[in-house]
Amino acid sequence: MLACPRCGLPLASRDGLLACDNGHTYPTRPHLDLLPPGKRPPNEGPGDTAEMARRRAAWERRLDGETGVGERAALERYLDTIVPRLRPGALVLDLGCGTGDVLRRLGARYAQPLSMVGLDISPPMLDAAYRALRREPRAVVARASTRRRLPLRDGVVDVVLRRLAPALPDEVSRVLKPGGAYIMASFGPARWRELYDALPEAPRPKASREPALDTLLAQGFAAAEYHAWRGSELVTPLEALDRLLMGPAAFHVDQGRDLPRLQDLALEMSEDGVLRLTTDAEVTVGVKG
Ligand SMILES: C[S@@+](CC[C@H](N)C(=O)[O-])C[C@H]1O[C@@H](n2cnc3c(N)ncnc32)[C@H](O)[C@@H]1O
Ligand SMILES: [Zn+2]
Repeated sequence: MLACPRCGLPLASRDGLLACDNGHTYPTRPHLDLLPPGKRPPNEGPGDTAEMARRRAAWERRLDGETGVGERAALERYLDTIVPRLRPGALVLDLGCGTGDVLRRLGARYAQPLSMVGLDISPPMLDAAYRALRREPRAVVARASTRRRLPLRDGVVDVVLRRLAPALPDEVSRVLKPGGAYIMASFGPARWRELYDALPEAPRPKASREPALDTLLAQGFAAAEYHAWRGSELVTPLEALDRLLMGPAAFHVDQGRDLPRLQDLALEMSEDGVLRLTTDAEVTVGVKG
């Protein structure tokens, strides 16, 4: 199923490396690295930092003990959208898989034969994904950029997942089987709006993905589903800061300036100094025609 990201030929093991018949080789240690050297596309960054990976993995571990409100509920609904689209032996590709948490949870929900491939550009995220998936023999994790040619053969993937990560629609379409599903999850525009009103420097979630249905149709997908979930959750100011620091807001948030702002907001909202924040999550599914 893996293909050379430079020339598209199949990859096979050779002398401890992965290689194609054109002689392009890729190391498999310390992790499978399918990111070709050379010029990066202009908008391709290095991916998430070690600090972001550490905070995200710690938060995901805490989610295990939480009941289904707020973003925990949104995560379960994302999984609820994926599972019915799986068939025994299906190949699932997660673009920008982060800590591997979604693939781990998916594997726990689906006991049938399955192949899962997680791609991420960030080495610290890959380290976390290896740890999360070490007891999941159905998963392979590799370093690759989802802003370039994907390291997969044409028409082999049953389900492509993308949550809060970049993708090239033509590449998604190329690797999907006819009838395969492209499942995109993101925050909706109302997510944590109370908090973003108080922190104007932090980047807010973008406008609704609902127009993504039109975009998907224009790209040749038969648009299938759109779901939006709204709710609310109680978050302490410190936890809110921690969760901002695991995403792109990390580059715009300053603890010394922003923790007092969040504490003031929390005291305005409740006597016990806890933030009640709107949660807003969206999932859009396109089916390849
Ligand atoms: C906000 S995290 C989301 C992780 C995971 N999809 C989830 O829902 O928990 C975004 C992830 O995309 C990765 N990423 C960013 N740019 C990328 C690229 N060009 N190629 C592959 N991964 C990328 C980051 O390293 C990070 O792990
Ligand atoms: Zn090659």
